[in-house]
Amino acid sequence: MGYTIENVTVITWDDELKITKNATVKTDGSKISYVGSKADDINESITDIRIDGTGKVLIPGFVNAHTHIPMTLLRSYADDLNLQTWLFDHIFKIEDKLNDDDVYWGTQLGMLEMIAGGTTCFCDMYYFVDKIANATSESGMRALLSRGLTNDSDIDDYSDDYRIKEAIDTFTQWNGADNNRIRVSFAPHAIYTCAPNYIRAIRDTAQKLGAYIHVHIDETMKEHNDSLSQYGMTPVQHLNSIGLFDLPTIAAHCVHVTDEDMDIMKEKNVSFVHNPGSNLKLGSGIAPVPKALQKGLNVALGTDGASSNNNLNMWEEMNLAALIHKGVTMDPLAVKAEEAFKMATVNGARALGFNTVGQIKQGFNADMVLIDISKPHYFPEHNLVSNLSYSAQASDVETVFVDGKILYDKGEYKTLDKEKIYYNIKRVYKRLFLT
Ligand code: NI
Repeated sequence: MGYTIENVTVITWDDELKITKNATVKTDGSKISYVGSKADDINESITDIRIDGTGKVLIPGFVNAHTHIPMTLLRSYADDLNLQTWLFDHIFKIEDKLNDDDVYWGTQLGMLEMIAGGTTCFCDMYYFVDKIANATSESGMRALLSRGLTNDSDIDDYSDDYRIKEAIDTFTQWNGADNNRIRVSFAPHAIYTCAPNYIRAIRDTAQKLGAYIHVHIDETMKEHNDSLSQYGMTPVQHLNSIGLFDLPTIAAHCVHVTDEDMDIMKEKNVSFVHNPGSNLKLGSGIAPVPKALQKGLNVALGTDGASSNNNLNMWEEMNLAALIHKGVTMDPLAVKAEEAFKMATVNGARALGFNTVGQIKQGFNADMVLIDISKPHYFPEHNLVSNLSYSAQASDVETVFVDGKILYDKGEYKTLDKEKIYYNIKRVYKRLFLT
């Protein structure tokens, strides 16, 4: 069974971005089986469900390339602080109290928000990952999950490290689950929470299992300067000297990376995940994205956790990515609307290693979002991609597909129970913060 979406505007690209009006897009099972301008030359199965796409645009689902989804529980809990104070004096303390049930419901809350905003895939780093994987599996979303690994004691043997053991168990149980919708990576949290030998041990484990690496890099000036004084190298150079980048790596933040660092990242094919909202809110700085793009790095976009953003809205990140660099560089061409759109979709999928995700293309996974463009802020239509990057709102999302299944349609969740999630979030909030 599949869907046939007719009379829809589709955004596709190979080398160049292309907008096709009055197109037909067809799905077959989990895949996109047809994208074209003629409806008559396709075989329509009698079991196909037809959707009228008049007044709508079909885009690839957003890929949130760096988040900590259960941190929805800590939304607006500790605001207007710098990263060090926020993380060490507030977040880590409350996180010590979290249990697996809290993480499960926090994940579900994050999914309500992401799905309704057109995000179909995310890259997560947290703990109680089995619960995150359970919730992801039930929701129908796509994800690359990881257990955040921290250990600052520099020893020779980490074979008893319970966190690495948990990460291996999660990998064994979940990597490739649900038709490869769920994959598992390894996540040394950051250089300021992991001893060099610990990062080495994680690298060796991930290498044996063929896993990706997800890591925070050079988020603050303090991290950058501490790295210089402790190791005589920038965070990127330090991690490169450990050999971390010999594995496919997703590097979150990269706010203070140097030109030379970006050359290393390019050479090692490290994906650069830009988190403009979180970096602005924590006062961490603004990442050198125009430079990264010029150097040909794969730049993706992420929200970071809802405690430092404070939402999981990829439209806002796309908008910020397209705007802030123009202001900082005083160059209106610094990050174009089209580039921001690619960062939020195909570049994210590429970073996460979901190679048939992030485009509306025959043979790709049907992870797609129908946007209602019959609203005032889409008229007139001089430039649809500009309208999507500069004017669109998350509330314009109408229908969300992942792997050919509808997860959300006209305000209604197909896989998540909103009332039950709100009830449980209130219960968890009471236990964590009011008792
Ligand atoms: Ni983060």
